[in-house]
Amino acid sequence: MAKYDNSFTDELRARLSLVDVIGRRVPLVKKGQNYWGCCPFHNEKTPSFSVNEEKGFYHCFGCGEHGDIISFTMKAGNMDFRAAIAELADMAGLKLPEYKSKSPEKIASEESYISIYKDAQKIYADALFSESGAGALNYIRGRGFSDDMIKKYGIGYAGKNNVLINKFINIKQDKLIETGLVRRGEYGLYDFFRDKLMFPIFNANGQIVAFSGRSLNGTEPKYINTSDTEMFHKRQTIFGFNFARDSIHRKNRSIIVEGQIDAIQMQCNGFGETVAPLGTALTEDHIAILCKSNRNIIFCFDGDGAGQKAAARACDIVLPFLRDTSDVKFAFVTGGKDPDEVLKTTGQGGMEKIINSAIPLIDFLWKITNDKFIISTPGGRSQAEKFLKSEIDKITDPDFKNEIIQEYNQRKFNQWHNWKKTKSDVKINIPSADNLVKNTLVYIIDKYPQIASQYAEFLSKLGISFDSETITDCNLSEQDAENYIYSLKLDFELKQLQKQKKELLSEIVKTGINTGKIPEIDAKIAEITNAIDNLLYKNE
Ligand code: UTP
Ligand code: MN
Repeated sequence: MAKYDNSFTDELRARLSLVDVIGRRVPLVKKGQNYWGCCPFHNEKTPSFSVNEEKGFYHCFGCGEHGDIISFTMKAGNMDFRAAIAELADMAGLKLPEYKSKSPEKIASEESYISIYKDAQKIYADALFSESGAGALNYIRGRGFSDDMIKKYGIGYAGKNNVLINKFINIKQDKLIETGLVRRGEYGLYDFFRDKLMFPIFNANGQIVAFSGRSLNGTEPKYINTSDTEMFHKRQTIFGFNFARDSIHRKNRSIIVEGQIDAIQMQCNGFGETVAPLGTALTEDHIAILCKSNRNIIFCFDGDGAGQKAAARACDIVLPFLRDTSDVKFAFVTGGKDPDEVLKTTGQGGMEKIINSAIPLIDFLWKITNDKFIISTPGGRSQAEKFLKSEIDKITDPDFKNEIIQEYNQRKFNQWHNWKKTKSDVKINIPSADNLVKNTLVYIIDKYPQIASQYAEFLSKLGISFDSETITDCNLSEQDAENYIYSLKLDFELKQLQKQKKELLSEIVKTGINTGKIPEIDAKIAEITNAIDNLLYKNE
């Protein structure tokens, strides 16, 4: 029988979740590692039909039916293979390719590709421990790689001169060029990677299909990768996945970092579930691969501006994959440039803290919306509304989408609009605040709603609630009103810092544990005290 190109059925399997596909026809409940439901292929009242998302198959313990995403669609929909593929392609939003089979030539060509890469890796790995690789070996050891790590990740060295073209003399030139390892220049063939530290790129089956080479002498670009080939598609390959797969399953989550050295160091320091896209571009294919195991993803971006941008992009890409059971969060690296540096300076514990402080996607999206537009103006709010709506529209689960819309409506009401509307029942709960402070705040919220919404986050922390009917006119100018709230905010922060410091000090006395945080807090206290001084000075 003619078959679809395996790569297409593989792509369907990668893109679609078996639980989603079966879940359309059979209600499923997660118990332990599998999902369970009543078997659609025989009559039963207690569920004995299990679905294993990770392995991609279902099995009925009642009637013995067993299969994968394609056989399920065929049987449950009573359709033939072609029709099932067409339905699945439609679900995945993929165009149906021509009906064709993988020829023996293609199979042979793929096998030869894999064997060339396997040999190349060995050549590079040997070179790393030879005389010519001494500098590279020194470099990678200096970056905290043990010899076991070097071996596990297959790291090697591509020499300054052509190596591969002289070793692969028995292989046809065209074939070598197809692999991307060798190029044709004006004066004949030459090695693509020269004087590079070589990281093999494995496919999900653990076969080497490409390399990433790091420059060792400071020349740019820092990394070069094999260009796309018939066997390597950068957009569909996620670095470290072959090693991370088990951990992703066991820990029921994955972590995505920006760089490959970060991914390796994370994997070797307690975060086996870490992967990295190749280059900076994260694609929906990367997310689809991870989502086959579970939809719990922690994005961990560098703390710089580029990291913020990449996070916003990742948010965009992951939205269509969200389910009400997913847990997607965003962490930003602090105390170092990237996870590799953090691990080096503060170890697994330091990284743990960063991962634990990750913020949920819904809060992150709210934050970028508020940062991106000027919420204090009607125009800004209108733009923000449009942006939020276009983002939320990417969520496919209708109930979940609805809940998110309601959540944001609540936030918009509380943080964008509420101050003006609810003057009569505003309450202010600052325990220490006297009536004058309370009155002044309500006066400002009433008269200058734009200032109130600018400080909405701070005001909401106060748990504003005030039941006085009469608000005395304070006669504050807009500038004075703003300075007033600003000074309250600084005062509030100062008190919190002082409280934090007190707690830390008493902890040191009690337990002898010094987290070393106090100088940091002192610096912040000084900064705020200074700001308060400046404000007072300016007012005089
Ligand atoms: P970074 O510039 O943050 O590098 O790029 P890094 O991972 O910290 O690298 P080291 O620690 O200096 O070795 C993050 C990722 O972006 C891709 C690489 O995958 C890199 O790991 N990248 C970066 C490129 O593909 N090309 C480049 O020129 C630079
Ligand atoms: Mn780095």
